[in-house]
Amino acid sequence: MSISILDIERLAANYAGRSPEEVISLALKTIDNIAISFSGAEDVVLIDMAVKTNPDVKVFSLDTGRLHPETYRYLDQVRKHYGIQLEVVFPESAAVEALVLEKSLYSFLEDGHKECCGVRKVAPLRRKLATLDGWITGQRRDQSVGTRTDIPVLQDDPSFSTADNKLVKFNPLANWSSAQVWDYIRTNEVPYNELHVKGFTSIGCEPCTRAVLPNQHEREGRWWWEDAAAKECGLHSGNTEAVQKAAHYWPW
Ligand code: ADX
Ligand code: SF4
Repeated sequence: MSISILDIERLAANYAGRSPEEVISLALKTIDNIAISFSGAEDVVLIDMAVKTNPDVKVFSLDTGRLHPETYRYLDQVRKHYGIQLEVVFPESAAVEALVLEKSLYSFLEDGHKECCGVRKVAPLRRKLATLDGWITGQRRDQSVGTRTDIPVLQDDPSFSTADNKLVKFNPLANWSSAQVWDYIRTNEVPYNELHVKGFTSIGCEPCTRAVLPNQHEREGRWWWEDAAAKECGLHSGNTEAVQKAAHYWPW
């Protein structure tokens, strides 16, 4: 089903204060060809909510080749727990091989994460999104003071919509805090990644994610050697572009 810009703006205004369940239900009813983009972290709540509306909901995860063993085990656990076909999307082998040959397996420590994320995450995501009319992410405003403060519950995708393929991006958890997500996980006995009990709050690739100490911001463990304003890997680059335009930077 196609949806116009005007529809998206109207629905975004109508659903701005609605619950994640209502936003997910809207997403699944409005767009047939839609999928959840699951990172293998606490965004599992999206799956838990969505299967209650559509047990056959499509879910995909981007396997960069550098995830933690705990995350691989968890992806399979989620697949079995919900009886879903979790699609694992891989990067192009030739592109990864060329990057590693030219710059090593740890190039990101020397010249930043953008190039490696581009090859291992963004290009595969672009390929996957070209097959869809909509996607559902677990982004929340409280995940970052600078880059995610303004994300709406649904939007015309600022990065991946093209003239030929309009893509609607749903962010049902936009208004929720981390505490609300974890209340939901506990109350509904949702399985979670074992890394969370080892001090990881935000989970990405193994070499680029570390545990945080009490009271550190949840994304301080991501790309910790880089400037905080750069902490988007390109999956949600529209956020950073908006921030750069507004000349806002992270406060730490
Ligand atoms: S990232 O851009 O910094 O890596 P983050 O880890 O905060 O993103 O996750 C935000 C949302 O992006 C997740 O809830 C999920 O929808 C999507 N996402 C992030 N990593 C992946 C992944 N490896 N596979 C699929 N979706 C992902
Ligand atoms: Fe590469 Fe690190 Fe980005 Fe993963 S998070 S794709 S290892 S730079």
